Amino acid sequence: MVSTHFPTLDQNLSSIRLDIRTLQPQLVEWRRLLHQRPELGFRETLTAKLITRLLTEWGIEHQTGVAQTGTVAILRGMQKGADPVLGIRADMDALPIQEENLVSYRSQHDGIMHACGHDGHVAIALGTAYYLSQHPDRFAGTVKIIFQPAEEGPGGAKPMIESGALKDPDVDAIIGLHLWNNLPLGTVGVREGAMMAAVELFDCTIRGKGGHGAMPHQTVDPIVVSAQIVNALQAIVARNVDPLKSAVVTVGSLHAGHAHNVIPAMAQMQGTVRYFDPAFEGFFQQRLEQVIAGICQSYGATYELSYRSLYPPVINDRTMANLVRSIAEAVVETPMGVVPECQTMGGEDMSFFLKEVPGCYFFLGSANDSKDLAYPHHHPRFDFDETALGLGVEIFVRCVEKFCTAQK
Ligand code: NI
Repeated sequence: MVSTHFPTLDQNLSSIRLDIRTLQPQLVEWRRLLHQRPELGFRETLTAKLITRLLTEWGIEHQTGVAQTGTVAILRGMQKGADPVLGIRADMDALPIQEENLVSYRSQHDGIMHACGHDGHVAIALGTAYYLSQHPDRFAGTVKIIFQPAEEGPGGAKPMIESGALKDPDVDAIIGLHLWNNLPLGTVGVREGAMMAAVELFDCTIRGKGGHGAMPHQTVDPIVVSAQIVNALQAIVARNVDPLKSAVVTVGSLHAGHAHNVIPAMAQMQGTVRYFDPAFEGFFQQRLEQVIAGICQSYGATYELSYRSLYPPVINDRTMANLVRSIAEAVVETPMGVVPECQTMGGEDMSFFLKEVPGCYFFLGSANDSKDLAYPHHHPRFDFDETALGLGVEIFVRCVEKFCTAQK
């Protein structure tokens, strides 16, 4: 849902401090540069080079090559008396999509596009790093800015954690944001608890016995078996999941056969499962297997099921969600303001960081209908209102100022 009541640019900028407002053209420039040179997961070498060049230029301590293309920047505050460590995470990768926007900064890499806004995430993180490097007196302890590869898959968060991104100094809490075209510019979506869903994937091959389309009694028809399975899988959510909880089972691909009059020997399906409650871990795999096995057995077919858990649900810590919410309320002073109970069945590997340390992931509204910037994420015409970049930096910086204080 995208509202047509959009706040004006001035309204959005009024809560942004002058130093960050001045940075706005630079944020736009970095974002557009990244947008022109999108890179897929674990191949973000140009992106990593730009990040490293700027961090070096600004004299910011950093570690490169973390989980291949990741970078961790370390900023030390000058306030004395406490030593909190806050992590800020930004994902960097693009998608295998051919951009259809005709903007001057459109993708120059054929078939690859920043269609999810991760170019903006990097620009916001860079702006935050720059600001904090210029104002070390405004915080105590340490801020670690984690530039993470491959969020869109296969997932860069886990390897970054395994490479020690949260260690030495040990991160106490972590925050991160996603520019979000499901919300208008000038809003922030945040909640405690489950924010985004667990992502699980399955591949299933149904094996029957092929034959003549006119003589089905001589065959075991994998198409009929698959049709039964697709329907029965929907009953898992409808009949095994508490109606007050949310889950999705989607079969996204189903392939079998090649002729009008031939019953094939095999059918293949792929799908995804989503849920918020971590208690469902393992449950859908078990039920899927039971349903598929039962139907195949009753028709005399066999199956191979491969099932994997990609990302756990994104679960926000109460204290950290309250911190982000209070800051967002102060920064987005628009009538729409902070959108409570914002959730999506989309997934995110920010969840791995949030399993390690308390934290908060939130959505920063970035759609603007009046500028035709409201296409959904992963659409070939996705683009967002760049005013959100400055808002993102302001929110991150205020989070640092509130979390990393000497009084802690
Ligand atoms: Ni994304």
